[in-house]
Amino acid sequence: VGGALVDRFGRVHRDLRVSLTDRCSLRCTYCMPEQGNEWLARGSILTLDEIEAVARVAAACGVTTFRLTGGEPLLRRDLPEVVRRLARITGPDGPVQLAMTTNGIGLGRVLPELIEAGLARLNISLDTLRRDRFHALTRRDRLDDVLEGVAAAAASGLRPLKLNAVAMRGVNDDELVDLVEFAVGHDAQLRFIEQMPLDAGHTWRRDAMVTREEILESLARRWRLDPVPGRGGAPAETWRLDGGPHTVGVIASVTAPFCGACDRMRLTADGQLRNCLFSTSEYDLVPVLRGGGSATDIERVLRACVAGKLPGHAIDDPSFLQPSRGMNAIGG
Ligand code: GTP
Ligand code: 5AD
Ligand code: SF4
Repeated sequence: VGGALVDRFGRVHRDLRVSLTDRCSLRCTYCMPEQGNEWLARGSILTLDEIEAVARVAAACGVTTFRLTGGEPLLRRDLPEVVRRLARITGPDGPVQLAMTTNGIGLGRVLPELIEAGLARLNISLDTLRRDRFHALTRRDRLDDVLEGVAAAAASGLRPLKLNAVAMRGVNDDELVDLVEFAVGHDAQLRFIEQMPLDAGHTWRRDAMVTREEILESLARRWRLDPVPGRGGAPAETWRLDGGPHTVGVIASVTAPFCGACDRMRLTADGQLRNCLFSTSEYDLVPVLRGGGSATDIERVLRACVAGKLPGHAIDDPSFLQPSRGMNAIGG
């Protein structure tokens, strides 16, 4: 087992996003329907040992970052143990880095344990600072719980700390400056995200989307923005605010896709490998994991997944189809 995971376009895969559950404590309109989706069957969810087996092979093949996602990863009961097992994996380039993307609800209670177990980095989703808007957008009245989570993350000293906000017309597009100021106050980087066609209702329309350009226009009225060089494979472009220590980011997956530098793979909670957020096919690890397969068998599925990767997401093609799997079961 070993050797880099390189696709047909020369992209080297160094980042594995691991979805731990499809369940979530919120119901954001751009992700899930009000009633939730049909949840994955309990028995189909990968166990701790199964996740670790895949992660070990990925690391041996040059993956250096694991990111825990969901649904909401904090809902996974054995989360501290998942962190402990994955954080101690070492690849040819040294120990992996373990990050997590969360909605922050209940984060404060477990964060010390997660850090002790080896969690290195946190991204927290926060689309609005107004309670009524948060309630309408997420269909849950839990802004205060999220803010508590952000405060705990800021106090923990884990850096860089990032806050994610999907920019939405008529929802939070008048709050962009407030969100950045809030982030700066917590020594965090706010990243605005162009909404992608992954919403439950399939109501996404390109002309309704708040674009990178509009976001930058709003921000430029308040700050001088100097581009930060050296983005690498990162989804966000970043700018320094008024030459100071703080930065803001934009993830423009639609108007300025970064597919050419994409270094990501995804493992779903039910054991499917995806080579793209938008892929319509998946590579099934379950027969290997539950049929007595070896590390070499896992590697074969990883390599097939990478070999099947397309050059980009093709959102602009007239024939574009949203993946049938919901965003909550892909992991963002
Ligand atoms: P960092 O390593 O901190 O840059 O994390 P990240 O931005 O990759 O992860 P996060 O989970 O915080 O995701 C932020 C936004 O980027 C979400 O909207 C994701 O759906 C989106 N995103 C993450 N990876 C990809 C990707 O490979 N392609 C696209 N199109 N979007 C992605
Ligand atoms: N478009 C863009 N980003 C999305 N996210 C969830 N759904 C979408 C979408 N349709 C973001 C969440 C979270 C991250 C994992 O993905 O806000 O921060
Ligand atoms: Fe990678 Fe697909 Fe995202 Fe493009 S849309 S950056 S190919 S995961």
